[in-house]
Amino acid sequence: MDEKTGTNEGYVLTPWVASGNIDYDDLIVRFGTSRIDQGLLNRIEDLTGELHFMLRREIFYSHRDFNWILDEYEKGNHFAMYTGRGPSGHTHVGHLMPWIFAKWLQDKFDVELYFQLTDDEKYLFNFDMDQETTHSYALENALDVIALGFDPKKTHIMIDTDYIKTLYPIALRVAKRLNFSNVKAVFGFDNSVNIGSIFYTSIQSAPCFVPTELKGRDVPVVIPCGIDQDPHFRLTRDVASKIGYCKPALLHNKLAPSLDGTGKMSASIPKTTIFTTDEPSDVKSKLSDAFTGGCISAKEQREKGGNPDICAIQNYRYYLFEEDDEVVADISMRCRQGEILCGECKSLLIHKVNTFLERHKKGREKAKDIIDGLLLID
Ligand code: TRP
Repeated sequence: MDEKTGTNEGYVLTPWVASGNIDYDDLIVRFGTSRIDQGLLNRIEDLTGELHFMLRREIFYSHRDFNWILDEYEKGNHFAMYTGRGPSGHTHVGHLMPWIFAKWLQDKFDVELYFQLTDDEKYLFNFDMDQETTHSYALENALDVIALGFDPKKTHIMIDTDYIKTLYPIALRVAKRLNFSNVKAVFGFDNSVNIGSIFYTSIQSAPCFVPTELKGRDVPVVIPCGIDQDPHFRLTRDVASKIGYCKPALLHNKLAPSLDGTGKMSASIPKTTIFTTDEPSDVKSKLSDAFTGGCISAKEQREKGGNPDICAIQNYRYYLFEEDDEVVADISMRCRQGEILCGECKSLLIHKVNTFLERHKKGREKAKDIIDGLLLID
């Protein structure tokens, strides 16, 4: 077992690898984060008037220092948000999870969002990707961010190689305080890793401090992100005060499940992953082939019922596509009682996902008109 890298006999979770049966409670202990407990939920609800379904369902379930962010907010010191994406391909719906949540936070707290697209990261870590490809996926992914409806006046998107003049001096300050041994211990690198990858965490750290630099005052920053990204920010937090910045706070989500019923949704397995650019017919065939908790025959399922707990279709609803808890509970109940069979259940979700994607694609088209105003370029 390795305490720092989130690796044990049952699963591996690093920013670049997710496999096995990820034990999210174990990660809280291993990474040393805090659970989002009832007290914090009450506090969020008091300030926002409601709880987002991802909080109610413990999809966002862990944090670092979010209470401090709310303390500052209550004092009138508004925070900024930072999140990002490594542009290794088209965006899939699992990526949208933390962004949809970030949009809710922006609406509720009226805060600015800084979004990093790490074309450099994907170039360094993916041997087969060239720089033109990662940069063009960054622009494609930016359209997906904008399509979610963030406030264009309060949303800033940076593609690393296009904003490097601002990022680099900050990254240098971080890099000067990080040793190879720190980075090695957290990510499990060996001597064969390229030297760009060793430096990379300092680039992912830089946007934590960009709001402070741009505004010329200490801006508290919270990062909504998959818990797989926590190792980077643990390092960032370790050095922050040494270089004169506040530590970034974090809100961690569990990773979206894949359609084959195992592991996380992954862009490298297109058949079990729905991309925002997929056609309705792709969505139909992927969801039709998904792993479910159904029985072998309709007759058996009517008699014995299905098992929604292990069903990828029901998981998709739970994580992303059905905000209404009662609808989720009702489908689970009818599934267990053998009243709804997999075919009907899948059609309901296919319709829902395709309706969502139809709107999202229109949003992507409109985003093309405004993207220039949102990109930070130096
Ligand atoms: N490393 C992330 C990825 O591969 C991209 C990223 C950069 C990010 N900055 C971030 C993710 C901040 C979450 C929060 O997807």
